[in-house]
Amino acid sequence: MSLDDIKADIKAVIDEKSCGPIFIRLSWHDAGVYSTGKLTGGCPNAAMRFTDAGEGTFGANAGLPTVALSLLRPVTDKYVTSGIISHADLWTLAANVAIEVMGGPIVPTRFGRVDARDSSGSVEGQVGRLPDGDKGVDHLRDIFHPKGFDDGDIVALSGAHTVGKCHPDRSGFDGPWTEMPLKFDNAYFSEMLSKEYVPETTSGGCPQNRCPRTGTVMLISDLALLEPPFRRYVELYARDQDAFFADFVKAWVKLQENGCTGLRDTL
Ligand code: HEM
Repeated sequence: MSLDDIKADIKAVIDEKSCGPIFIRLSWHDAGVYSTGKLTGGCPNAAMRFTDAGEGTFGANAGLPTVALSLLRPVTDKYVTSGIISHADLWTLAANVAIEVMGGPIVPTRFGRVDARDSSGSVEGQVGRLPDGDKGVDHLRDIFHPKGFDDGDIVALSGAHTVGKCHPDRSGFDGPWTEMPLKFDNAYFSEMLSKEYVPETTSGGCPQNRCPRTGTVMLISDLALLEPPFRRYVELYARDQDAFFADFVKAWVKLQENGCTGLRDTL
């Protein structure tokens, strides 16, 4: 069985279930706990699959251990159980297949992430590691700078919200960011600049912003990117999709590999 077989099986699930966005979020939250500075440690190790304690119980991960892992289960059963690929590498690969299948850039995947054996392989908590959607630029910097990302990287990475949506029963926020939430393009940036947004509170009590004309949303953390110096990158990516894709791939691969050692180019 080759890497192409695994990718084809992931693609089949995405085509059938339209679930590309949640695979991207799964990889992001597995890897995104990494931090240096006040908080240390954390890496993509699939600790989220344990729901007795740790990352699988974090509110920020709502929907991932349940919905995302159920969707991925047929591929997991076929390739992880037989020892061909680790859970953490599969989650990384599934996100990268999703990005490509939805029209985004081709992201190179390296392999060798080591899975947590139980929930003790989790980081201690989500606070300071994973971002909140109801906060602004200071918070985004506090979260992303200790992971090795600068202001431009924060904008490029946030561009992943060009796909997917917020689910009231997961995050409490509600709605898609763009009018074509299964297409990975630069619409997140062009729509953010061209639309008017009105603040609202969701039924779950979360503050967000909605475009009344189209029903798309932006979180407070998204509209924070309209402030200088972030805005310069929003404007660049809105007019130049190639620039967005190039900067996104650079930051995204770094995110997916943060905290890992000895990764290799082949399975
Ligand atoms: C910048 C700070 C960020 C905040 C505050 C944030 C917050 C959120 C929230 C609240 C949701 C909704 C979850 C749900 O209800 O299902 C979400 C979804 C999502 N996020 Fe982020 N996010 C951030 C950055 C990122 C990054 C860096 C990526 C990947 C590079 C990403 C990818 C996604 C995707 C693809 C979804 C859609 C999931 C789905 O449709 O099921 N986000 N994010």
